[in-house]
Amino acid sequence: MRVQVAIIGAGPSGLLLGQLLHRAGIDAVILEQRSPEYVLSRIRAGVLEQGTVALLERAGVAARLRAESLAHRGVGIAFGGSRLRFDLQELVGKSMAVYGQTEITRDLMEARAAAGARTIYEAEEVSVHGFAGTKPTVRWTKDGAARELECDFIAGCDGFHGVTRAAVPQSAIRCFEREYPFGWLGILSDTPPVDLEIFYAFHERGFALCSMRSTSRSRLYVQVPLTERVEDWPDERFWAELRRRIDPDAAARIVTGPSIEKSIAPLRSFVAEPMRFGRLFLAGDAAHIVPPTGAKGLNLAASDVHYLSQALIGWYRTGSAAELDGYSGRALARIWKAERFSWWLTRLLHRFPDEGEFLWKMQQAELEYLAGSRAAQTALAENYVGLPY
Ligand code: APR
Ligand code: PHB
Repeated sequence: MRVQVAIIGAGPSGLLLGQLLHRAGIDAVILEQRSPEYVLSRIRAGVLEQGTVALLERAGVAARLRAESLAHRGVGIAFGGSRLRFDLQELVGKSMAVYGQTEITRDLMEARAAAGARTIYEAEEVSVHGFAGTKPTVRWTKDGAARELECDFIAGCDGFHGVTRAAVPQSAIRCFEREYPFGWLGILSDTPPVDLEIFYAFHERGFALCSMRSTSRSRLYVQVPLTERVEDWPDERFWAELRRRIDPDAAARIVTGPSIEKSIAPLRSFVAEPMRFGRLFLAGDAAHIVPPTGAKGLNLAASDVHYLSQALIGWYRTGSAAELDGYSGRALARIWKAERFSWWLTRLLHRFPDEGEFLWKMQQAELEYLAGSRAAQTALAENYVGLPY
């Protein structure tokens, strides 16, 4: 089998890249190790920058998003018993769209099926070869049989634990990493959102976040030590802890209900440089991870895919490698700024164990400064809505 582009991974990065290439007449196959049901069962963030929405529009997959997403003009931070609101629209002229990543994945899968484009699910032992030369290949097994694909390019869209980044010789790649000494315990529940807009909470007991998926479905988080286990958090304990950490007005309004999903996720910052190795290109979580504070993960995957699709389309249309050569630098310039913002917001809003009272005081002082300075609010808003592509 031969194809122009082999895409490894059918998460949002791989599916969106496949869709943009398909619309440009470029033939791509996606290889995914899991089943479509498994891919759709992963619960991830759901806050989209306007640039991400525009890209999904260009990809022709925004009909349901347009109809069902919630427009958010502002975002809040609860601290010291009250709530600070950042009017994003007023501060920087942009807002956010709330629409679950799972829904985007579903829309992309449906578009791919309607276009008759090929995705090979449950591909086992996927491996990538020959990308230092001009004839890369991908091998995998399916139903016990070994398969091979020849291609012009490989796109590594296989997430943080994928095989593509791991296939790069150690001497050719540098990784930068920070792990945080806590995690987020998150629940999904069919209860009305705590407030109309998303808000983060800074509290001595730890960070909290009240988000949503729709007007009847909440997504809520509390910071927990990494040693906690989900079994130790019955719903009542979760709701009680959330209530303690948010402002009293919101706490009084909370409508509780059973959780329909509950999990603990560690927080990590990670960047691999460069993102191109001959004919192998990394995109999305395969190349970088941000802590979820600020919801930049999916939005960064989208900007990578935008740059990579443009570069590949440019190559097939003109034969020029200029954009392919520039991909890694372009993508990383935006990634590092989003890494900085996600790290900063994480640093600002969480209770870091074993750090002493001085840094805790600094966090409080920074929040007071944010509350009183339009310049500081504008900087937060500019990053929150997403820096330009
Ligand atoms: N072979 C084939 N597929 C693989 C392999 C492998 N060896 N390893 C991983 N995959 C698949 C995973 O099963 C998954 O479906 O690659 C896909 C990667 O998807 P994501 O992890 O969702 O990464 P990405 O598409 O880059 O999406 C980025 O997802 O993780 C969030 O915060 C992140 O929102 C961001 C977005
Ligand atoms: C979410 O809705 O899951 C969410 C929202 C904002 C974040 C992270 C996650 O910063």
